[in-house]
Amino acid sequence: MKTWKKAVLCVCAVVFAVATVTVIVNAGGPPLKEKTCSACHSDYAKILPKPHPDVDKSAPCLSCHAQKPGSDEPTKFSTGVHKAHQGEKTKLECNACHAL
Ligand code: HEC
Ligand code: HEC
Ligand code: HEC
Repeated sequence: MKTWKKAVLCVCAVVFAVATVTVIVNAGGPPLKEKTCSACHSDYAKILPKPHPDVDKSAPCLSCHAQKPGSDEPTKFSTGVHKAHQGEKTKLECNACHAL
């Protein structure tokens, strides 16, 4: 095999390995910081969307809306949270909530 072909194969293997690790590490989305919501919101009743199932209004959102481990499918919850903070109500950097 010609040297340049070996080099191309090698680069491809490295890129693939890095991509695979990145996907595994980020499964379920980038990790959230501790106290993600209460850092800025002291009153959960105010950020509970309407309509919402009737729940204890002082319970942390993430106590019910934790993502399934290993799933990075957006949920209604994560979609709503992202929308609210990416232009709809305010604009936050990703690392306001995610530990990046
Ligand atoms: C860095 C500060 C910050 C963090 C962290 C944060 N928010 Fe917010 N959020 C805001 C600001 C500012 C607004 C816009 C003003 C308002 O409505 O209070 C907002 C608005 C919202 C709204 C829209 C409220 C409405 O008026 O309809 C929801 C829902 C919400 N946040 C939920 C959350 C949840 C859930 C989390 C945790 C995953 C979170 N926020 C984390 C600052 C933050
Ligand atoms: C005691 C459990 C519980 C708590 C606490 C809770 N939720 Fe929910 N939430 C639910 C259930 C159950 C549903 C309906 C099923 C679903 O859509 O996941 C729901 C649905 C939602 C939806 C989707 C509504 C729709 O259909 O479009 C959003 C957005 C949401 N919750 C945001 C929040 C926010 C923000 C907080 C914190 C202020 C919060 N929830 C706290 C249980 C909870
Ligand atoms: C206001 C807080 C907040 C901000 C700002 C935020 N996220 Fe998220 N993000 C969340 C929450 C809450 C989840 C649900 C995670 C869970 O339950 O484990 C999530 C989930 C995700 C996921 C997993 C797929 C999904 O949608 O559930 C990805 C990918 C992601 N966020 C990327 C981003 C990027 C990129 C940015 C910046 C452009 C960003 N997030 C900004 C709160 C936030």
